[in-house]
Amino acid sequence: MSASERVELFDIRSSYLELREEIDAAIAAVVDSHQFIGGPEVRRLEGALAEYCGTRHAIGLSSGTDALLLALWALEVGAGDEVITTPFTFMATAGVIPRLGATAVFVDIDPASFNLDPAAVEAAIGPRTKAIIAVHLFGACSAMDRLGTIAERHGLPLIEDAAQAIGATHGGRRAGSLARAGCFSLFPTKNLGAFGDGGFATTDDDELYQRLVLLRSHGSRDKQTFERLGGNFRLDAIQAAVVAVKLRRLEGWNERRAAIATHYREAFAERGLAGRGLVAPAATAERHVYHLFVCRVPRRDEVVAGLEARGIGARAYYTVPLHRQPALRGLSRVSGRLPNVERAAAENLVLPMHPFLRDDDVERVADALRETLDALEIR
Ligand SMILES: Cc1ncc(COP(=O)(O)O)c(C=O)c1O
Repeated sequence: MSASERVELFDIRSSYLELREEIDAAIAAVVDSHQFIGGPEVRRLEGALAEYCGTRHAIGLSSGTDALLLALWALEVGAGDEVITTPFTFMATAGVIPRLGATAVFVDIDPASFNLDPAAVEAAIGPRTKAIIAVHLFGACSAMDRLGTIAERHGLPLIEDAAQAIGATHGGRRAGSLARAGCFSLFPTKNLGAFGDGGFATTDDDELYQRLVLLRSHGSRDKQTFERLGGNFRLDAIQAAVVAVKLRRLEGWNERRAAIATHYREAFAERGLAGRGLVAPAATAERHVYHLFVCRVPRRDEVVAGLEARGIGARAYYTVPLHRQPALRGLSRVSGRLPNVERAAAENLVLPMHPFLRDDDVERVADALRETLDALEIR
């Protein structure tokens, strides 16, 4: 890349170019078989995903959103119930709750991890609470040991929204194996991405798995008898074939992301950026898979504009947290205060992160950040 080219936030083309022959052959095999829905490709991928996540079951689904919807539906969340979660996340996490007639209850986050604050979760539990959704935001697991203890104490199911965290660990175990069910997205920009929409759910619970199987196909096993309501929430075979090829590279790609994060931290330290208000994600003992590399910075919107003007892809995420979203008005409520959510929404700065980012790209991002802070006189 020449110095004049932009450093992009994402790069989903390079993973295809690296695996082009294998992916093209896998797609051609599905086309040849004409088994487009379900079939051996989907079953093979489900087996590989269950093995990777360390769970008894994985079930291919139409999207990460649908994985969340079906997990709650299978747990019989419905009218009059409440589900506790974070408002600092993508709309999908909480949007599924009122679709089942329940109310989303939003609590504050831990400022260091951007993930649920377990004490705030426990304070929000009441007689109508039916479940808790922990989001492993940006690629790092939530405090699942503490959340698991709280959920158990109150007899509540805990669900992982692991859309951004495939391969991340907590207590040495992988995301998806840390609660009653794990919900994953295979959206193209995710660490493991399809060539379209897709998702899956994981669980060790045989009964829950059987319910998910029914919900995925209109509540039927044989297309003749419909045991319960469900829908069409299937993953198609071409997506499964693509994802199966990419899954074999996921560990290497996640390791490269972690190495880039370390490089970022070193490059920021060399330039003294921390002393000027920039907070990079801290190194963690547990495995962070850096779906996104998210810092905090003062005067964030001006910094984003400064980086963009210097050819660096930069963005703010979730600037309007979910408790302030018009679509959730009357369908959600806030428990306690949300100062850490408001701060995260105002200060988060997403920088380029993908396995194909080069070392000199990281240096360019760090240089552009320093120049931007200089220009804005942030000292
Ligand atoms: C935290 C989170 N939850 C849920 C989803 C929904 O996944 P999908 O886009 O596959 O429906 C996403 C991603 O888009 C996400 O980032």
